[in-house]
Amino acid sequence: EKGTYPHYMLKEIDEQPLVMRKIIQAYQNEMGDLTIDHGVLNAVLAADRIYIVACGTSYHAGLVGKEFLEKTAKIPTEVHVASEFVYNMPLLSENPLFIFISQSGETADSRAVLVRVKELGHPALTLTNVAGSTLSREANHTLLLHAGPEIAVASTKAYTAQIAVLSILSEVAGKVKGFDMEFDLVQELGIVATAMEALTDDKEAFEQIARDFLSTTRNAFFIGRSLDYHVVQEAALKLKEISYIQAEGFAGGELKHGTIALIEDGTPVLALATQENVNLSIRGNVKEVAARGAHTCTIAMKGLEEEGDSYVIPHVHELLSPLVSVVPTQLISYYASLHRGCDVDKPRNLAKSVTVE
Ligand code: F6R
Repeated sequence: EKGTYPHYMLKEIDEQPLVMRKIIQAYQNEMGDLTIDHGVLNAVLAADRIYIVACGTSYHAGLVGKEFLEKTAKIPTEVHVASEFVYNMPLLSENPLFIFISQSGETADSRAVLVRVKELGHPALTLTNVAGSTLSREANHTLLLHAGPEIAVASTKAYTAQIAVLSILSEVAGKVKGFDMEFDLVQELGIVATAMEALTDDKEAFEQIARDFLSTTRNAFFIGRSLDYHVVQEAALKLKEISYIQAEGFAGGELKHGTIALIEDGTPVLALATQENVNLSIRGNVKEVAARGAHTCTIAMKGLEEEGDSYVIPHVHELLSPLVSVVPTQLISYYASLHRGCDVDKPRNLAKSVTVE
């Protein structure tokens, strides 16, 4: 139930710190160490390549998950949109593992791939919020998100839960493979939860950003590099689906290869800057669009901020930054939708689970 909240979406955004803590608990053993079911772990360790298959927001979580699987577990990973994969399968490796990411566990496009994968005899793991869902029952293995029911059509807490569980899976696999972990994930996810709380406690700031940048615009661009690029794709999807503002998430360096032609006086461009190695270059991209009249809003991570930034998010480990940087974009989309009089929880033309291909 949404209780005192005006919308499920706002409630679900606020639940994210709690969900992080629940996930840590659910994946901890009695010693406090992170663990993953043996069957799942063995399937991951046996794979020479992982194929993540998902749709929409879950696909965007997969893009971040690939970073963990490659950087902490050192397993080559590809991420695919289910509806494309099914008709245009890439050349598969010898021992692939498929990971289906699906909040509902009922998405028909993803299921079509799962059916095909089973015909081919390959192992499949489903990451889902719904125990006993179709994708969970039909895959060999399941990992649960522990996000609690997600009612709003726009997915928020499932996205961060998916990323958190993928970070745990990668960390545990990396450890078993004998790699030194450069950080303590339990502690870092705790820092993430606290950072999320600080952001959800600061809603007025994001309401103001939505007012300043998005109240009348027809379009908006989001830019980011590296992990921020994955997050801005999700940010754009969220804004589109609930506010009907035409929005696109771009890699910062790609704008000048065409899209910059769309920048006019007042075009909103929201940039994320959470990654040290690309901070200078994303700043350069912000200047490029500002010089062409864009109304720029930069959200930076503490330690990388510059004068004139619109908001500074608390510092968390760089690899985990998507868990935190997405929260302002969720809140900004929420308020943009609200200010524009849209139906936040039930946007037009959309259903919570898409059970047709
Ligand atoms: C966007 C959204 C959708 C879903 C997509 C996949 O906010 O909710 O893009 O992420 O339809 O759904 P699941 O994860 O249930 O397979």
